[in-house]
Amino acid sequence: MNKQAEPFLVAAAAQVGSDRAHESAHLHVAGEATYTDDIRELEGTLHCALGLSPVAHGRLVAIDVERLRAEPGIVAVFTAADIPGPNDCAPIVKGDDPILAQGAVHFLGQPVFALIAEDRRVARRVAARAREFVTIEPLPALLTAREAHGAKAYVVPPMHLARGDARRAIAGAPHRLRDQLSIGGQEQFYLEGQISYAIPLEDDGVLLHCSTQHPTEMQQVVTHALGLAANQVHVQCRRMGGGFGGKESQSALFACVAALAAKTLNRPVKLRLDRDDDFMATGRRHGFEFDFEVGYDESGRVLGVEIDLIANAGFSADLSPPVMTRAICHFDNAYWLPNVSMHGYCARTNTQSNTAFRGFGGPQGAIAIEFILDSIARRLGRDPLDVRRANFYGVGANNVTPYQQTVEDNILQPLTDRLESTSRYRERRAEIAAFNEASPVLKRGIAFTPVKFGISFNVNHFNQAGALVHVYTDGSVLVNHGGTEMGQGVNTKVAQVVAHELGIPLASVRCTATDTQKVANTSATAASTGADLNGKAAQDAARKIRARLDAFADQKFGGRRDIPFGELVQAAYVARVQLWSDGFYATPGLSWNRETMTGKPFFYFAYGAAVSEVIVDTLTGEHKLLAADLLHDVGTSLNPAIDIGQVEGAYIQGYGWLTMEELVWHPKSGVLLTHAPSTYKIPTANDMPSVHFRTALFDAPNPADTIHRSKAVGEPPLLLPFSALLAIRDAVSAVGGHRVDPPLRAPATPEAVLDAVDAVRAAER
Ligand code: MTE
Ligand code: HPA
Ligand code: MOS
Repeated sequence: MNKQAEPFLVAAAAQVGSDRAHESAHLHVAGEATYTDDIRELEGTLHCALGLSPVAHGRLVAIDVERLRAEPGIVAVFTAADIPGPNDCAPIVKGDDPILAQGAVHFLGQPVFALIAEDRRVARRVAARAREFVTIEPLPALLTAREAHGAKAYVVPPMHLARGDARRAIAGAPHRLRDQLSIGGQEQFYLEGQISYAIPLEDDGVLLHCSTQHPTEMQQVVTHALGLAANQVHVQCRRMGGGFGGKESQSALFACVAALAAKTLNRPVKLRLDRDDDFMATGRRHGFEFDFEVGYDESGRVLGVEIDLIANAGFSADLSPPVMTRAICHFDNAYWLPNVSMHGYCARTNTQSNTAFRGFGGPQGAIAIEFILDSIARRLGRDPLDVRRANFYGVGANNVTPYQQTVEDNILQPLTDRLESTSRYRERRAEIAAFNEASPVLKRGIAFTPVKFGISFNVNHFNQAGALVHVYTDGSVLVNHGGTEMGQGVNTKVAQVVAHELGIPLASVRCTATDTQKVANTSATAASTGADLNGKAAQDAARKIRARLDAFADQKFGGRRDIPFGELVQAAYVARVQLWSDGFYATPGLSWNRETMTGKPFFYFAYGAAVSEVIVDTLTGEHKLLAADLLHDVGTSLNPAIDIGQVEGAYIQGYGWLTMEELVWHPKSGVLLTHAPSTYKIPTANDMPSVHFRTALFDAPNPADTIHRSKAVGEPPLLLPFSALLAIRDAVSAVGGHRVDPPLRAPATPEAVLDAVDAVRAAER
């Protein structure tokens, strides 16, 4: 830093790396934070509701628009025929995601028409009667990934990644194991549902308030569908009430419909989904089915493994291709697999189109190898942690991933050592064994699982960000950047970075709504990169201003250190120094070859490990999460309070996915039966670990040159609760004296646990 120019550097060091409240915490707790539906409605605002397909697959013969229009209170009706541009809001595979059904319906719940009314309730009531107004000739539906895989129905061609000779290694191995695993999907269950509020502007413009992780993409899809230019479409998002990946691409349909209606009727139109409709119309985390065969030695080292990963993509491609890519690039998790062959299938089914969800396929890929190592350990009678350690990536050797990236920042060993000791893993395992010996019905179980998660979008060009920093003459600062706030605290972190660069208190810095008119061509706030990318971009902007102020202070005040920021800024303004700046950042050194699935897709890896302990009632299948010890790597934390919140939240969210959140589609009609909190169980405060829940950050700077040497935190800790699922498996395994692999599926609902208990008992007989 420029030595002479520190006059206004007051307590700068405290702005990053310290616990800071979320920038909107005071508004959240008072109910004063403005979400899209809280924006005061303009006079003349109309409301929209969507008529959903009552059939899982069929030919869409007719929509009785005349009768719909004649319903009392209905102002207008829109169908695919009313869309001026292409009827498509697909993020990747163009043409695959219709806005409104056209020619055919592909899942039960697909939006077919849009109704506009003065009163939202009127629009919704008529829309709920959709089946009375549509004529559909049913066609056979594929409802499960396995069925679609059998029919070779895929949304994109299968993906393959191999290293070494897996078949040969398996054939020559001392031990072999062939098995299957089924992992269910997961609803994002953002508290604020999908919503868009479109306001027509002069000269063919439109303003869209949208709950979205990707304002730029909303701008692009609306531009495309309405036949406008990007400079006519203005998208804003101050905050979301949660996104979790569910608003990365899937906010698009609602943005397009609201904009279409607003432009056509020349009145503001709001489209806010009812929770049940949100479940019925949008996709979620992909459920995966796995078929695998593995060869291993006496120490539990995996010599060769071949695996099919079959994802339920739903009816369209949406983001399934990069989700599958990330799944394949995370099957290795923490382990060096010398011979591996992976085959990824994105099965096209007649269900909602599955999409991004925290971890983006990474959790699904990695859980398979954890399940495999768990089985290997049981078969060898070894502690699963010893088997895991035997397979860990090495330092300096055995450190190249199947996709040919070298793991250069491996901290698995020290991190595992620390958690093994702080959690008293070995002692507790012995205590649990003694407990189970004396307890025929209640069985306890424990598991230790590590995490390695690659940070960066696996589409290289998304790894860029922009920011705009304004310093006003009173010394207050306004920051705008391409990231979106969904509760994860990106605004707080970016504000801390800017306060640090300018040497001013955090209270002087304010973040504003994400806005396509301020920073253009932004990426989704996703892949956990929000703070990494936008923090660097904002730092770049702040540094430019700082450099100008430094030069000015040198010249004007000759290195004096005691000039208040406001005074300096005022003087600089008078001297006609530019007090605002843009900033830009692009992650260096990335490469990816989609054909060969090799390169350097990740700037660095984030690591973590968890120990979970459960108690299972083997008569009812119920369990209780007793304890969780989490140790997670966030590099040098920008804000430990926020990071611990992210780690704990991700742990519980992933625990919900693996143990209680069950999606059930009716096997004949294809209706999603679990479409509301009454039937879809997410974790609550009561599901938190009841004895202890201990979270610590592994405090070591990121060797990669990230913003203040921090690491991304949003998604990686979602993999920590693998330990909870495997702890349940361990408890069930105790029923059979740990001689049989329980065939436990996820979610490990009481039903699934009882099935596994039965299978263990049957095998023992
Ligand atoms: N935390 C909260 N509170 N709400 C969210 O919607 N989304 C997660 C994670 N943490 C989410 C969250 C997901 S899916 C991602 S990719 C990251 O936050 C995105 O934000 P970041 O990149 O700024 O961490
Ligand atoms: N994560 C989230 N969204 C994405 C990714 C990713 O890795 N790649 C493309 N879109
Ligand atoms: Mo997160 S699934 O990358 O939005």
